Amino acid sequence: MSLFHILQTSESLTDKAALAVQSSGEKLGLVESAASNMPLINGAYFVAAILFIFSLVGLSKQESAEHGVWYGIIGMTIALIATIANPSVTNIQYILIAMVIGGLIGTWFALRVEMTQMPELVAMLHSFVGLAAVAVGFNSFLEHQPMSGVMLNIHLVEVFLGVFIGSVTFTGSVVAYGKLKGIFSSKSLMLPHRHKMNLLAGIVSFGLMVYFVQQEGHMNSLLIMTGIALIFGWHLVASIGGADMPVVVSMLNSYSGWAAAAAGFLLGNDLLIVTGALVGSSGAILSYIMCKAMNRSFISVIAGGFGTDVVVNSDQDYGEHVEVQADEVAELLKNAKSVIITPGYGMAVAQAQYPVYEMTKRLRDKGIKVRFGIHPVAGRLPGHMNVLLAEAKVPYDIVLEMDELNDDFEDTDVVLVIGANDTVNPSALDDPNSPIAGMPVLEVWNANHVIAFKRSMNPGYAGVQNPLFFKDNTSMLFGDAKASVDNIVKAL
Ligand code: TAP
Repeated sequence: MSLFHILQTSESLTDKAALAVQSSGEKLGLVESAASNMPLINGAYFVAAILFIFSLVGLSKQESAEHGVWYGIIGMTIALIATIANPSVTNIQYILIAMVIGGLIGTWFALRVEMTQMPELVAMLHSFVGLAAVAVGFNSFLEHQPMSGVMLNIHLVEVFLGVFIGSVTFTGSVVAYGKLKGIFSSKSLMLPHRHKMNLLAGIVSFGLMVYFVQQEGHMNSLLIMTGIALIFGWHLVASIGGADMPVVVSMLNSYSGWAAAAAGFLLGNDLLIVTGALVGSSGAILSYIMCKAMNRSFISVIAGGFGTDVVVNSDQDYGEHVEVQADEVAELLKNAKSVIITPGYGMAVAQAQYPVYEMTKRLRDKGIKVRFGIHPVAGRLPGHMNVLLAEAKVPYDIVLEMDELNDDFEDTDVVLVIGANDTVNPSALDDPNSPIAGMPVLEVWNANHVIAFKRSMNPGYAGVQNPLFFKDNTSMLFGDAKASVDNIVKAL
């Protein structure tokens, strides 16, 4: 599952670009089914679709990720050229102007974004896909080729579903962006009867769809449903707590794919249908994998508010913590035979991966066994830690998944918890009232010594204190993680 964030971003970009070109094409009065008459264009779409599949396969492994990115870029370029080269496209200059403006804005964002801000960027891109699907839906409703009978009914259902999924994706992604950026509280919004309200929104929308089709297109039903879907999307994500946000981002990724596929049906564009289905299904699979990793039920997460009915006792007395200095940690490390490093979000913030690699190299040169333990939701996006460590040239074979080394902590001399918190919190296993109860964690406390690198005693992302920091075998090394590791390297 490593490098899935690249996958998510490229999928979002793929959706967005394809949708943008298609919707502008439709607005310019293109003949919807023109592509089906042109074997060359269909051939190009086919090649692009195959390249997108290769891209997903490549991105699923660290070693092949770079190839995966290139397959995606080439596939998207072919798709764009084939769409623009369609002889029925007139006024190409408008498409090109839109592409240049969009491309410049995208490049500007991509160059500026920090790795830790990637989930926000992905959430924002998903909101564009949702908005584009709504625009395509309305456009397709207002301007379509004459049709009647079953074909008209199918078209109206496509319009309705496209606008519904797009609206939910749009506001849901805006809230996810706000939560990840810290504009909105990461706490779940706990409105009374929230599940009943969600159910009611679903039932009313279904009723409106039936009426919409019966009336052979009734603008007011479409508009009312759009309003309901926008509020529904907002409420759905607002009622999901911070600890479940990883699943939400990946779920919105999936929704944006289905929104693109719905737009593909409306525009009669096979490539958009295939691309949307690829994004939709891979996002759904990723959501499932993440739910499994966090021991969450997928339905409970998307229904909202799961695991958040508990009351967090912030006055609880955890005892005293013990502080340690960098040179003492260096001494401890020199005498160790086996060391495990469990990085978390703080390593990403501090950009400590480079000195961490330096430290690892020195320890390995001394014959000490060093491994990395990666929690599936460490950091702020799937594969976040793997990407950082790969960037710093840490060898892949010493970077292990949580399940691969969770039993090894008992035989480990020193564990360095570098900027991780929730992912090493023992209360996930022994406190049923904890908001993260049931989430599998790295059982670092079983090692002889644990050193926690942090700047303060503040809680992690889920907002709960971590009893690990008060255990007898844990010492706190306070300060910015990069500076602390630099100091250890010097002392080594
Ligand atoms: P967190 O629980 O977020 O804790 C990070 C820790 O890093 C904090 O305790 C913070 O303490 C410390 N820190 C921050 N900046 C630092 C710096 N410059 N130097 C040293 N320490 C620093 O981290 P985690 O264990 O990686 O857990 C991830 C959490 O994020 C989970 O709750 C997960 O559900 C959630 N989440 C994950 C994802 C994905 S997909 N991975 C997406 C969204 C949310 P101080 O402030 O005291 O320094």
